[in-house]
Amino acid sequence: MSKYKVVVTGAVLPSALSALEEQCEIYRWNNNEPDETAKRLQAAEGLFVASKIQINEALLAGAPNLRVIAQPAVGYDNIDIAACTRHKIPFGNTPGVLVEATADLTFGLLLTSARRIHEGWDWVRAGKWHQGLPLPFGVDLYNKTVGIVGMGAIGTAVAKRAQASGMKVIYNNRNPRPDEELLKAEYRTFDQLLAEADFIVVLTPLTEESRGRFGAKEFAQMKSTAYLINASRGPVVDTQALYAALSTKQIAYAALDVTDPEPIPADHPLLKLPNLLITPHIGSATMETRNKMALLAAENILLGLAGKPLVTCVNAEVNYR
Ligand code: DGY
Repeated sequence: MSKYKVVVTGAVLPSALSALEEQCEIYRWNNNEPDETAKRLQAAEGLFVASKIQINEALLAGAPNLRVIAQPAVGYDNIDIAACTRHKIPFGNTPGVLVEATADLTFGLLLTSARRIHEGWDWVRAGKWHQGLPLPFGVDLYNKTVGIVGMGAIGTAVAKRAQASGMKVIYNNRNPRPDEELLKAEYRTFDQLLAEADFIVVLTPLTEESRGRFGAKEFAQMKSTAYLINASRGPVVDTQALYAALSTKQIAYAALDVTDPEPIPADHPLLKLPNLLITPHIGSATMETRNKMALLAAENILLGLAGKPLVTCVNAEVNYR
């Protein structure tokens, strides 16, 4: 039996690669071989996107045989979904499997920055404990209000962690959730949330509407003691405005798992600020979760190639053929 032709971009975990290799002939996208890569794309029936390249009309026009695209991530701001749908190509992401790991990291950023855990570690390593130098105090979580912007599955999981620490949860979505009583979370308009929250957790996907949603105007509406935690996508926060808000102490602190630009250069002015913590986009980066994401993306590819509906498909209208 001849094998399906699949192009893979980026690094794929061995479990997913073996699952694919059983049924597919794999070509690893190679920027140093543009002609060969273009030729392989021409013939490709499946595209496994592990390096977050832009999937747009131009790329799809050069890949006329594609029948499925999958990416081991829940976010898909690098994928032109409308173009995939026009080409009748189902696109699979990996929601669900990364919820708990991402919620742990998001709440971890909140806790670490509130309690200055990373600064404490730096301070011990620098021998300052011995010298009796004071470490700045952190702030309590107990009785504080966390405002979650983008209350989906990950937001809900963060809310549970916050409630376990004695925090009140408010949230903003396009519309109030019908299950908010069950979640013990209260809906607020965006402006109300900005003014009321002690910790603002950003989990909204990057869209044209959410791009730059946190800018100078929004920082001016926040408490001067507020913490901003961004675990969604970097461009949801205006980096220059954040720099201004942190350096003038208009807000107290920011903890970011995502940045704009990403990766953020080591000499970026933001990195010189004392009231900031950045992790390198590791929301879902545990062995177990990344493995589940890779396997789900591989399963989506194999299903699409077999003409079956994907398990998790963003453009459901082309998931049944
Ligand atoms: C996701 O799955 O979208 C995470 O942010 C990793 O990119």
